[in-house]
Amino acid sequence: MAELAEKTALVTGGTSGIGLAVVRRFVQEGAHVFVTGRTSAKLDAVKAELGDAVTVITGDVSRPEDLDALFTTVSEYGRGIDVVLANAGGGEFAALEEITWEHFTETFESNVGGTVFTVQKALPFLNPGASIVLTSSNIDVKGSPSFSVYAASKAAIRSFARSWAAELVDRGIRVNAVAPGPIATPGLAGLAAEPEQAEALLGGLAAGVPMRRLGSPDEVAEAVLYLASTRSSYVTGTELYVDGGASQI
Ligand SMILES: NC(=O)c1ccc[n+]([C@@H]2O[C@H](COP(=O)([O-])OP(=O)(O)OC[C@H]3O[C@@H](n4cnc5c(N)ncnc54)[C@H](OP(=O)(O)O)[C@@H]3O)[C@@H](O)[C@H]2O)c1
Repeated sequence: MAELAEKTALVTGGTSGIGLAVVRRFVQEGAHVFVTGRTSAKLDAVKAELGDAVTVITGDVSRPEDLDALFTTVSEYGRGIDVVLANAGGGEFAALEEITWEHFTETFESNVGGTVFTVQKALPFLNPGASIVLTSSNIDVKGSPSFSVYAASKAAIRSFARSWAAELVDRGIRVNAVAPGPIATPGLAGLAAEPEQAEALLGGLAAGVPMRRLGSPDEVAEAVLYLASTRSSYVTGTELYVDGGASQI
């Protein structure tokens, strides 16, 4: 039996990397998935690949009007939502003396504001037993030079998972975070200042992981599927690390 048969899911930032792997995995398990991202061409590619199993919606999670348009589409579809993966986000390196208001605001509006208002606006549509998964990061528990604003934004996500789990437990809705370590995605490679520096960056990150490799988006998707499905029915408020041991050993 498919794990998400007859279920609907929302994946923000579902056109690349971790989000795209989750969308594919959810579709394999029988879900209809609402997929968002900012770039229409990437959404078109997801639609071409997955067809009627997905509804694609262009939008920026840091723009309230885009979120309203997303949930209008969800409402018109008429089946509510069983799973939310609030995943859209990203970051850039900036040492403490390099942090600008623009860097701070953009990071927090996308990663934190986008998550808060995605989940808030999803609430009226959540079906009984719904599961909310937030994409945090394993660096939310470690000091991270030149990445402090991003790390702080992900620490906020980890905190929200706890508080929202407490707020929603009586509705039978579970909230958890998934904390990836360095995962081989376009977003991670894009952290390099120049494309030719990406290989060295990724190699350095892999060397810092006890398993001595980057994770794959599919490995994160398996963890998200666990948190999304009834297999994790007694799990709420937690954070599941998918990081090759980087934050734990
Ligand atoms: N890769 C890692 O090593 C790693 C580790 C820990 C945590 N994470 C987290 O995992 C999530 C996904 O990262 P990834 O590595 O898979 O990145 P990615 O390959 O760059 O994919 C990011 C996705 O999010 C979308 N997105 C970004 N900002 C958005 C916004 N403001 N509104 C709507 N969509 C937005 C992108 O769409 P567009 O391209 O159209 O903008 C894309 O679909 C992020 O929250 C990231 O912080 C990643």
